[in-house]
Amino acid sequence: MLGKLEKKRRYYASSYALYGEKVPPPGQWRAQLGFPQEAALILEVGCGKGDFSLAVARLEPQALVIGLDRKADRLYAAVRAAETLGLANAYFWQGDALLLEAAFAPGEVSEIWLVHPDPYPKPRQAKHRLTHPRFLRLYHRILRPGGLLHLRTDHQDLWRYSEEQLAMQGAHILWSGIGHSDKPTSPWLTIETDFQRKKGGPTYYLQATWP
Ligand SMILES: C[S@@+](CC[C@H](N)C(=O)[O-])C[C@H]1O[C@@H](n2cnc3c(N)ncnc32)[C@H](O)[C@@H]1O
Repeated sequence: MLGKLEKKRRYYASSYALYGEKVPPPGQWRAQLGFPQEAALILEVGCGKGDFSLAVARLEPQALVIGLDRKADRLYAAVRAAETLGLANAYFWQGDALLLEAAFAPGEVSEIWLVHPDPYPKPRQAKHRLTHPRFLRLYHRILRPGGLLHLRTDHQDLWRYSEEQLAMQGAHILWSGIGHSDKPTSPWLTIETDFQRKKGGPTYYLQATWP
């Protein structure tokens, strides 16, 4: 069993790791990582051990998939899996979501996924929620016109809060709910993540865009 420090060390040594100067400049993500300009750039914010990003990268081999998390020891599991699978289209970026505006050019990202983000249930913690207005403003700026923001969460209060905040930020909610027959059927919605394996429970799903 590796300790946290050793996991971090191995993460930073991986060719799948993006941090510091390895993070492409704004507007250069596709070019610097060897993808054509028309390739989809799919960003997961708060990817943890990377299950979702890794699965999407396998389902969409033409797309560039970036998993972002602030914890390098969790990202170690992601880069190790990417190495084992020999993936050519997934990278794992150690950083904070607050860096998004400085890291991407406006409209550079095709879609953004938040998969079981931490709910931060106490009111005084609200600014840390990944659907707090300070993050929604960044997503709006870096998403291409019509690009989708997706949220999957087992936390009903976070789901409701996110709906409210998105509406207040001028987003259109295209779908939001749980278990209805008209629920979108993308295979991405059933990708099981580390969090889900540990916690289980029904998953609320919300899909939004800015007009
Ligand atoms: C509950 S875990 C879920 C991880 C993964 N999506 C899953 O479903 O297993 C939430 C993750 O979000 C990350 N996180 C929380 N706030 C963040 C922020 N501001 N920037 C980057 N990552 C963040 C945490 O480090 C944690 O790994």
